[in-house]
Amino acid sequence: MAGSGKAHLRDDALLRVEDLTVEFPVGRDKTVKAVSGISFDIIKGETLGLVGESGCGKSTTGRAILQLPTPTSGNVILDGTDLTALDGPEMRRHRTKLQMIFQDPISSLNPRRAVGDVVAEPLQVWGPDDADEQWKLVSEQLEAVGIDPDVARDKYPHEFSGGQCQRISIARALVMEPQLIICDEPVSALDVSVQAQILNMLKTLKDRYGLTLVFIAHDLAVVKNISDRVAVMYLGKMCEVSESDELYANPAHPYTKLLLGSIPVPDPTAELDTTLQGEVELPSPLAPPSGCRFRTRCPLADEICEREEPQMRKVSGDHYVACHHPLVEITNSNQQHEETAPTSGAELV
Ligand SMILES: Nc1ncnc2c1ncn2[C@@H]1O[C@H](COP(=O)(O)OP(=O)(O)O)[C@@H](O)[C@H]1O
Ligand code: SF4
Ligand SMILES: [Mg+2]
Repeated sequence: MAGSGKAHLRDDALLRVEDLTVEFPVGRDKTVKAVSGISFDIIKGETLGLVGESGCGKSTTGRAILQLPTPTSGNVILDGTDLTALDGPEMRRHRTKLQMIFQDPISSLNPRRAVGDVVAEPLQVWGPDDADEQWKLVSEQLEAVGIDPDVARDKYPHEFSGGQCQRISIARALVMEPQLIICDEPVSALDVSVQAQILNMLKTLKDRYGLTLVFIAHDLAVVKNISDRVAVMYLGKMCEVSESDELYANPAHPYTKLLLGSIPVPDPTAELDTTLQGEVELPSPLAPPSGCRFRTRCPLADEICEREEPQMRKVSGDHYVACHHPLVEITNSNQQHEETAPTSGAELV
């Protein structure tokens, strides 16, 4: 089977991504398998945290939703329309419903345009013709992100701090009232104190406007408060998907546990679980391991992990894992390998 299964997909999703594969040819005969058959969905008003180490394919996934570039295979269904089937002009129209916020706020804003124009840019193509109406919409969004519109209107991006530029990027994303916003590590490049301000602001905006967000981050701590659901990726594959609190309380995939171990512990005297961090051998997306891609770093790996790719199966409620030997007991009857006894988390510590 390609990919890691679709047991975790729901019927009422605004966005449904199925078997998404993105490969980049490099050199004469090599292929980077950046994303390999992942599936996930998002319900209207929900925030999905998409988490995994650098290079696991998060940005590629975010860009593939926008068809930048069109994925190698798979489907991206937004509100009933399969974006992978649209031609160029149709996709450009649909792209206004999708907005992306990038990691580096300063370079994502056009340095030659004043802030008023930067935020109005999408409206100049798709919005009302009347300049006063455009400015009304722009100033509303600048105010919503805590930027004084009259002060900012004629200033240039370089006159603002990184945090302020990220606020301006968010205003630009909001001005088209998109159905979905993809935030690609929006706070990673900012100072820690500013990170908290931007995260809090996004949470407020999400509640006020009922925004639907994909929130990409490389560590679980950043997505904890903002995400309703969290999806964990490893080397182009989906490992685990769960309602947020459940994932942090009961990680079922050894890789999720590894990521949780790297969240800074508030109590410096508390012991960290370093069992999984011992021998780190990072495989290449040019030649990913057979079976489970995490097996070269997993202390629970055995012969079946090498031979068979684990498929997504239900742990409980809205909690799904793709692992042959999950860390919590699988309660439903849809087990892949009945002969494999569940491994208790205690054996890992
Ligand atoms: N345009 C490209 N050409 C070749 N390889 C790419 C390209 N874009 C991304 N990659 C590779 O795909 C993998 C996933 O990258 P990326 O999606 O940026 O990961 P992440 O955002 O999780 O750090 C990496 O190995 C990266 O080097
Ligand atoms: S137990 Fe096997 S399937 Fe599960 S993460 Fe480890 S290697 Fe992968
Ligand atoms: Mg990235």
